[in-house]
Amino acid sequence: MSLLFDPVSIKTMELANRFVRSATNEGAAGPQDEATAALERIFVDLAAGGVGLVISGISYVHLSGRLWRPQMGLHQDSAVPGLRRLAQAAQAHGGRLAVQLFHAGRERSRFMPGEGPAPAPSLIPGDEIYDFPHRAMSEEEIQQTVAAYGQAARRCQEAGVDAVQVHAAHAYLPSQFLSPYTNRRQDRWGGSLDNRLRLHREIYRAIREQVGPDYPLLIKLGVADAVPGGLTLAEGLEAAARLAGLGYDCLEVSQGLRGAGFKNSEFRRGIDRPDKEAYFRDWTRQVKKRVSVPVMMVGGLRSLSLMQEVVAKGEADLVSLSRPLIREPDLVNRWRLNPDYHPRCVSCNGCLLRLREHKPLACALEVKDKEAAD
Ligand SMILES: Cc1cc2nc3c(=O)[nH]c(=O)nc-3n(C[C@H](O)[C@H](O)[C@H](O)COP(=O)(O)O)c2cc1C
Repeated sequence: MSLLFDPVSIKTMELANRFVRSATNEGAAGPQDEATAALERIFVDLAAGGVGLVISGISYVHLSGRLWRPQMGLHQDSAVPGLRRLAQAAQAHGGRLAVQLFHAGRERSRFMPGEGPAPAPSLIPGDEIYDFPHRAMSEEEIQQTVAAYGQAARRCQEAGVDAVQVHAAHAYLPSQFLSPYTNRRQDRWGGSLDNRLRLHREIYRAIREQVGPDYPLLIKLGVADAVPGGLTLAEGLEAAARLAGLGYDCLEVSQGLRGAGFKNSEFRRGIDRPDKEAYFRDWTRQVKKRVSVPVMMVGGLRSLSLMQEVVAKGEADLVSLSRPLIREPDLVNRWRLNPDYHPRCVSCNGCLLRLREHKPLACALEVKDKEAAD
């Protein structure tokens, strides 16, 4: 198992091993959308539990892109001291912290209905997959949003956060711009793949301008949509290659627009057999062939032997997990002691449903067990 437990670097960031906590909305920010002791605790547990790189949950770069509350905000300089405490919490236990830069785009209206029509690439009247108020962003608004990514990244760097990851998957703003389903614009931001990728390029430039050439800049990219007329895998792979060529330092490969239910989403349920594991393996393998920067595989990774195989075969450089680490933040240490250990997570998505009820992140089964015992 040495490969997975060996150190690895993403640009200037040295990681103790190849295990990543994939970004997971912790629901633990404070009333002013600030970092809290509860968030520090989560990052301490993960880093002390053996995770090499912890990626924070969605943290909005601009108020217009807030998905719900509580959620960490990176939109003002007052975020820096809190970010510093989070970075130090992970680093003190041998881990590294990347913060995930987020803008909800039109998805905001799904969760924050009182905020008025949400900003989107395009207004799609009668949209069959999205029946919530939204409106097309103006040129000026796009420019402001791009600049906000740069400022948010600068704040992270100033705070000593090890890296940032742009969230460009799961139907949020960059994913909406990349998809021909949600992006129907006829200006320079829509139409050809090149135009639909303009937002990703401009975000890259805005961030680099603020953080310089050496700061690790990661992206989680949805390489295919699960809706008819959406992003095809062929275009998604081309997008991945272009973004790596542009200078993004690491790609995590995931879902773009989700289909109905959990089946065609990034969080598939019931991962109870080896053949259900690693459901983005093929996409990731194909991305890996097209780029020379490190690639992360995510999505239903559960057996250490399978992850070892993926890395040994060169299908990915790092392995990224979310749900199993909610139930067992010390999972990596358990695997170090016993490579055959099977995570207790059953991929029921109870954690996600709890979060949607605005409860702090926790394994729903653990909570139930605890309540029964009390
Ligand atoms: C409760 C919960 C919260 C999540 N929050 C985020 C998030 O903030 N950002 C993100 O990119 N993905 C988020 N995801 C998706 C995970 O990062 C991951 O891509 C997905 O769950 C598949 O990995 P897994 O099978 O190891 O859980 C979340 C998933 C869950 C279950």
